[in-house]
Amino acid sequence: MLKRKDNELLTRTGPETPMGEMFRRYWIPALLSSEVVEDGKPKKVKLLSENLVAFRDTEGKVGLLDEACPHRGTSLYYGINEGCGLRCMYHGWKFDVEGECVELPSEPEESNFRQSIEMKSYPIKEKNGIIWTYMGPKEKTPPFPEFYWMGLPQENLLAERVWQECNYLQVIENDLDFVHAAFLHKAHSKQQTGEGILSSDLGIDPNHPLVKNPPVKQEYENTNYGKRCIAVGIGNETQNAFMEIHYIFPFYTFPPRFGGEDGMWHAFIPRDDYSTWSWDVQFAHDRPINVEAQHARRGLELDEHFKKHRNLQNDYEQDIELMRTGNFTGIRGIANQDHAATETMGAIVDRSKERLGTSDLPVIQMRRLLLQSVKDFQNGIDPMQLNNTSLKKLYSEGIYDSREKGWQEALPLHEDFSLEVKN
Ligand code: FES
Ligand SMILES: [Fe+2]
Repeated sequence: MLKRKDNELLTRTGPETPMGEMFRRYWIPALLSSEVVEDGKPKKVKLLSENLVAFRDTEGKVGLLDEACPHRGTSLYYGINEGCGLRCMYHGWKFDVEGECVELPSEPEESNFRQSIEMKSYPIKEKNGIIWTYMGPKEKTPPFPEFYWMGLPQENLLAERVWQECNYLQVIENDLDFVHAAFLHKAHSKQQTGEGILSSDLGIDPNHPLVKNPPVKQEYENTNYGKRCIAVGIGNETQNAFMEIHYIFPFYTFPPRFGGEDGMWHAFIPRDDYSTWSWDVQFAHDRPINVEAQHARRGLELDEHFKKHRNLQNDYEQDIELMRTGNFTGIRGIANQDHAATETMGAIVDRSKERLGTSDLPVIQMRRLLLQSVKDFQNGIDPMQLNNTSLKKLYSEGIYDSREKGWQEALPLHEDFSLEVKN
């Protein structure tokens, strides 16, 4: 349970909110590289309650600017992308990828008015088919985070983004929740999946350790990237299953996986306070990823705005017959199941009314770290810096091991991630 004012502090991320300002100290995935082509149509991107527009110029450089033209506010999304700049359709003002006003045809030639025009523009870093941005103060720009999967060949990766219709915190909480897989994602029978693939679009095999016995015994430890959460479940006749989830401050995660399964990385970026860009990178460690199967199991059919076909308005196409014959929820697609659980809470759930149990340990720990950090931030303390040397080695693992072993022995934290290892 949270006090109302703490819920507000955690969930509001617009400009000049404490959490919003803290989030602006981190690199944010903004859009897929494939969404903007040279001299092609610009793309609207709302991030942290700011309406922005992205475009790729004639030379292939990407700009991320305020959507509103600084002249009189017309949307640059409708602008003309040509000759290394984006031109407003209303009076022809033109801006380059840095936000500099390069042409001002509505003013006399001798005027130096152009030099005084200020346009909001954010820096871009393009990597692994994803366009990232940093929206905080320039002098506070952190090193670009080097996640494990960024070191893999591009054909081993599949990146997707989707518009999730609830506050980011609900989405992170869902991702740190070990137990939900045993219900929300349970398929009634063994699923035909390709090598290394966790589930079909119906859900996860009922004999998978995440599903077979809800792993209610959980632990956590503080790390140099945030929190490591561990669950111990019944694996097979003789062994336990040891699983982990990494919460990487402030909005990245690695959900649980077992050896041989493709990995998964998430980032949950507030679109505004009522919706989230849910980023998902699936990665095969040592072979090209099976794009078709991985896409199908998530079950997301999206429109050009990255909104889901199965959504709250059509009850996620929940099928009562499928609940008897196919899976626990009657909803197809692992991602749709997650969206249904989190969106049906309401856009911002009232956490003063919840009843948390022991299985909510990772949720409690994540909130505690976010709350403490944002309160420190309000007192002028810079938030946690990620350590790239160790971050490169981080992903989730799961193993079977003796019932005699404790989790520290079976699945120990690598020394690179201890709190003592700073950036
Ligand atoms: S509103 Fe954009 S040029 Fe006038
Ligand atoms: Fe899930």
